Amino acid sequence: MKPSARYGRMAVVLHWIAALLIIALLATGWYMVGTAKNTPERAFFFNLHKSLGITTAFVIVTLIVWRIMHAAPALPTTMPRWERTAAVLSHRLFYVFMLLVTLAGYLTSSFSKYGPKLFGIPLPQWGWEDAALRGNFAAVHRLAALVFAVLIAIHVAAALKHLLVDKDSVFQRMLPG
Ligand code: HEM
Ligand code: HEM
Repeated sequence: MKPSARYGRMAVVLHWIAALLIIALLATGWYMVGTAKNTPERAFFFNLHKSLGITTAFVIVTLIVWRIMHAAPALPTTMPRWERTAAVLSHRLFYVFMLLVTLAGYLTSSFSKYGPKLFGIPLPQWGWEDAALRGNFAAVHRLAALVFAVLIAIHVAAALKHLLVDKDSVFQRMLPG
């Protein structure tokens, strides 16, 4: 398949939906763990976070299937080779983290008495009530979310460098239109 100069409309739409959901998940995740236990506020944010997280899982799977079926546009040869390699590797790493963080979150919920829920609808619980296992999955979820956030910050900085410094239209090819 011949790569086109920019991402297709579907890839762009999925990228921005996933990006917004992931930023909302980082924000709600960090906020909710600081709320007082056994309060309606905490229950609200935990349910919102879990529901958004499960919605994101569907978007991520669609994104991955779409990406397997459609090659990414080739990066401009004006970019140094190491930058092109770093871009390809970091994008692959993103897909790994999207799956890892989501899976660890789902497992954290599965080993808690509350279980995974999608806007009030209980979903298959892949475990049982077990505080120690829940704690282990929560630790993996927390660490993976933190590393993911650092990678996203680097990704955004790189995107802005393309827009403002390199001016090589790499940023624009992920914009609609
Ligand atoms: C890309 C997807 C996700 C991201 C970026 C994300 C992010 C986060 C963050 C930043 C925290 C706070 C961690 C801390 O500092 O203690 C958190 C906590 C949590 N997340 Fe997620 N999350 C995602 C998906 C999910 C999913 C799918 C579920 C479950 C269905 C989930 C369930 C939880 C739970 C139960 C906690 C609390 C863990 C604890 O008690 O320490 N998350 N998440
Ligand atoms: C917040 C979570 C985000 C995630 C998880 C994410 C993930 C990704 C992934 C996986 C790709 C590669 C697509 C592929 O070829 O398979 C990509 C490309 C891109 N992203 Fe993001 N992104 C996020 C946020 C952002 C933000 C906030 C910006 C802009 C400031 C941005 C700008 C771009 C651009 C310009 C590209 C195209 C790079 C290229 O042409 O190679 N992303 N993103």
